Amino acid sequence: MPPARRNMLAKILLSAASLLLAHLQHFLLALMQFIPGFKNYLPSPPKEQTLCHRPRGLQCISPLVQSVEETPEPIPAKIKGHIPKWINGNLLRNGPGKFEFGNDKFNHWFDGMALLHQFQLTHGTVTYRSRFLQSSSYLANSQHNRIVASEFGTLAMPDPCKSIFGRFLSRFEPPQPSDNASVNYVLYKGDYYVSNENIFMHKVDPETLETKEKVDWSKFIAVNGATAHPHYESDGTTYNMGNSYGKHGSSYNIIRVPPQGSSPGDTLEGAQVLCSIPPRDRAKPSYYHSFGMTENYIIFIEQPLRLNLLKIITSKLCGKAIFDGINWEPQHNTYFHVVNKHTGEALPGQWCSKPFVTFHQINAFEERGCVVLDLCCQDDGTSLALYTLQNLRRSGEGLDQVYAAIPRAFPRRFVLPLDVDSDTPVGKNLNPLPHSLARAVKEADGKVWCTHENLHPEGFEKVGGLEFPQINYSHYNGRRYRYFYGCGFGHLVGDSLIKVDVETKDFKVS
Ligand SMILES: [Fe+2]
Repeated sequence: MPPARRNMLAKILLSAASLLLAHLQHFLLALMQFIPGFKNYLPSPPKEQTLCHRPRGLQCISPLVQSVEETPEPIPAKIKGHIPKWINGNLLRNGPGKFEFGNDKFNHWFDGMALLHQFQLTHGTVTYRSRFLQSSSYLANSQHNRIVASEFGTLAMPDPCKSIFGRFLSRFEPPQPSDNASVNYVLYKGDYYVSNENIFMHKVDPETLETKEKVDWSKFIAVNGATAHPHYESDGTTYNMGNSYGKHGSSYNIIRVPPQGSSPGDTLEGAQVLCSIPPRDRAKPSYYHSFGMTENYIIFIEQPLRLNLLKIITSKLCGKAIFDGINWEPQHNTYFHVVNKHTGEALPGQWCSKPFVTFHQINAFEERGCVVLDLCCQDDGTSLALYTLQNLRRSGEGLDQVYAAIPRAFPRRFVLPLDVDSDTPVGKNLNPLPHSLARAVKEADGKVWCTHENLHPEGFEKVGGLEFPQINYSHYNGRRYRYFYGCGFGHLVGDSLIKVDVETKDFKVS
């Protein structure tokens, strides 16, 4: 064979061998599909790429979402740096601390049993203690060594000791609200409670963390729960919001609880519903986690993250968890409702914006006939479903993908002009505040279309957005203010502390 032809043949064979090697993996995988038993070990086909960007290798945080033992007796805490000696008192926190009973495991981060934490600061030293909330859910799960009470993302399975018919019938029982109050500490009449967002709260002792008394909102006023982020007046009056569900559908209710009890054992006696607001769709009220309060007004944000009541009521029957009934519906706008907190009267104006979701408001205040409302906002309302324990316990590329899929939250300012009527011109920016770039424009249908102003500069995306905002509450809630603090989200959980100057938009990260 001539050398030229030999070379050509060698090149062809080499190319064929390379091609075969390159496709050998696919060839073998294809072959394995036909071998019984091997199919289950094949890797999943690549899913459609829907991620907005590729994050870097995030540290696995699985140890943070494992069950822990309680620490009822105080132990000394390790301190990095130093704590000023003038800071004295108890830092109280609440959150999930137990994620399984027997062989049953919870699905969602919010399902874990409430563990109450206390960091006691005394002259520069810190001690720590924790106790599990003795809720009915915790006690029943512990007694049966399995999950018997459904939570937000976990449907409790029927008792295996029941007959098949009994288990079938239990599917038709309506879902019972859990009293696992794992979201926040709240204050009513000077007493400490822990709360989630449903009908039950628990009074607790802030010194010993002992569970004192279970309180049912519906025994005092016609609501089926209240948020875990109420607002407080300086005299101790507490404002909150909660839904009610009647034969005509649902309502949003603004609640006021007086500052003092009339007798020592008081809980919510004297609570009132100040105002009821009908949802835009009474079968699908919005989910809300907090609201705004100024000196004279309550501001409620009706966002297109909706509770599908039919889905929730039938969730047990359909074998679904409650959170499957919370849906992001971005075909609807976000609406603002302003209510005079002294009279309970809802202002007639209609303010709206493009769809967004807010979980935590930062602050709100009145200025020159407007309400200024600062919120942490996400343009996509799908994040709740992503905080499953399975996702939080991922590592490597899987963890990076979860992070990339979670919408980021950014601080934004809305300005709502209150004096809008038929004489107000259409198409003109009604925001008179020289320090704010937010816009509020009356449209032909009378609604005021609000466009936010960013409370952050360019490049803020690098810190991963900001959530869990805090202000100097006792001095500035409801008043014009300058600084707020929050957690940066360079991970699935907060991984930095950020201070923002709302006037200059400068921020510091530590
Ligand atoms: Fe919250």
